[in-house]
Amino acid sequence: MKKIFLIVSAFLFVANSYAQSIINEPEIAEGDSPVLQTQIAIIPEPVSLMKKAGTFTLPENVSIQASKSEGLQQSINFLSERIETATGKFVSSVTTANHPTIKLIINNQTDSQLGTEGYRLNVNPTQIVITANKPAGIFWGVQSLIQLFPVEIESKEVVEKISWKLPCVDVIDYPKLGWRGLMFDVARHFFTKDEVKVFIDNMVRYKFNLLHFHLTDDEGWRIEIKGLPKLTEVGAWSVKKTGTFGDFIPPTADEPRTYGGFYTQEDIKELVQYAQDRFVNIMPEIDVPGHSLAAIASYPELSCTPEAINYKVRSGEKIMDWSRGAPPLALVDNTLCPANEKVYTFLDTVITQVAKLFPFEYIHMGGDEAPHNFWEKNDQVKALMQREGLKTIPQVQAYFEKRVEKIVVSKGKKFMGWDEILEGGVSPTASVMSWRGLKYGIQASKDKHNVVMSPTDFAYLDYMQADQITEPRVYASLRLNKTYQFNPIPAGADPKYIIGGQANLWTEQIFNFRQVQYMLWPRAFAISESIWSPIEKKNWTNFVDRTEEHFKRLDFAETKYSPAIYDPIITVKRSADKQLMIELATEVNGLDVYYSFDNSSPDRFYPKYTGALTPPKDAGMLRLITYKGKQPVGRLISLPIADLQKRAK
Ligand code: ACM
Repeated sequence: MKKIFLIVSAFLFVANSYAQSIINEPEIAEGDSPVLQTQIAIIPEPVSLMKKAGTFTLPENVSIQASKSEGLQQSINFLSERIETATGKFVSSVTTANHPTIKLIINNQTDSQLGTEGYRLNVNPTQIVITANKPAGIFWGVQSLIQLFPVEIESKEVVEKISWKLPCVDVIDYPKLGWRGLMFDVARHFFTKDEVKVFIDNMVRYKFNLLHFHLTDDEGWRIEIKGLPKLTEVGAWSVKKTGTFGDFIPPTADEPRTYGGFYTQEDIKELVQYAQDRFVNIMPEIDVPGHSLAAIASYPELSCTPEAINYKVRSGEKIMDWSRGAPPLALVDNTLCPANEKVYTFLDTVITQVAKLFPFEYIHMGGDEAPHNFWEKNDQVKALMQREGLKTIPQVQAYFEKRVEKIVVSKGKKFMGWDEILEGGVSPTASVMSWRGLKYGIQASKDKHNVVMSPTDFAYLDYMQADQITEPRVYASLRLNKTYQFNPIPAGADPKYIIGGQANLWTEQIFNFRQVQYMLWPRAFAISESIWSPIEKKNWTNFVDRTEEHFKRLDFAETKYSPAIYDPIITVKRSADKQLMIELATEVNGLDVYYSFDNSSPDRFYPKYTGALTPPKDAGMLRLITYKGKQPVGRLISLPIADLQKRAK
């Protein structure tokens, strides 16, 4: 197989664009040179990648020359920092040089293929050249270049005894979508400014360019608003609880409300600048009229419900009844009152300041999951309906959304909301984030609304990615292979109006930043490839190979990720005679699962799974481990039989 590859590639290597192959192949056409590991594993998959003969070896003194255009300093800084940190080599930025190591060039004449974010990357035996129309393209080209280095380039300290060789390639690359987002919910759990910066550092490696910052919710208000001090004195703080969020015992009055935090306006400016320096925009979300308990606990007069004076910021106790589905029944009224003029004055103050702090063109105003049961019985809302001729409660929400949009537009910004804003009569200029599946986005695009696709089915990274026994419990699952099937421009949509795709990371069950990373990676690889790469370039098997290479990178970067692709997928059934049957599958090929029922930890000398298992009568525990050949790759998974019996019910 390998021989055939070599013969074929000897003839075709210059001419052929090919899917990236993760093969340790001898270097081509360089006589007696030693074997080189030339894994090419760029994520997201470039539009075109041609492998050429030879390799580039990083010299002792690395010089980076940039064309005189503005905006390249960020790319120079990024490259210099990575190279110096991991290789220990000296990197200089030069304006003139005979033969600089790396050239970053902004085209004098626009290269129409590349657009504003595309780039060409040429790695030759003695020089690397990145060209682009705009600085953003250079920055994304730099990300691909870093991915051509040996995986040790991600190390946070100097790695000795490495030959810093790169395969010679010609890459032409540009994104499918201009909005490539990750949503970070810092309301359910607060994450520090430094953690947000690391989030941004992590996302740019995979060419995400939009951080959707979910700043307010029932559990916290996270942004300082001048003139509304209680939002952060009261609204940013809850009682620290640990366990399964949503089931917490309601806090008592004497428990300290010291858990949480907020970003000052200076913090926000710093984050916006930090993101801009990495070609990332930050879109703020102020989630109203639902999800507003933190605001109401701060200013109860924003509610239609008199009992709101006793409301507190949620600490993870139950406040909604979801048994009927969405929208939920509220047990406490977490909605702003649509019939209260003070609400619109409040929102004007908030939006004025938010619009000044965030240069991005959109402000996201939420609109999701607003329970209507308190509105239905409220006299102020009834009077509003009569006055405005509103026939239904969804029309009341639509009235609210339109007024909010007017405020947003009056500050020079565009209005975006979750897809519930389509109900009850949406304004024609509203932009929609489709989360309850693709269908709302498809319809909205046909109705000429700008749409960002972030459907639960493919893009909810708070969902469990492995068996529930290893994960904090969430009500739904989303494995990597399903995430990889995300197509943000589905059949039936008007592609002209699909402006972006993104994944959402809600943090109810995410209590620390290591878990943030675990939930993001590798599923955000799949999202990035789905929103950057041409659909015909996507290939699951090849993607898994590249993902495994990137696991090595994340190891060097000390970024946490989920190894769930190596864990077995466990399905339980009952046979005709009611016996428990346990079926195992794996998400990726080439793995073997070994098991025990005797409480000991299996290795590859234990029985190998070949078909449905029925536990011996007295067994209390099934333990599983996955191997790739002789290497254990999965986690040891221990499943109480009683738990499996319950699942089979
Ligand atoms: C959402 O997930 N409630 C937008």
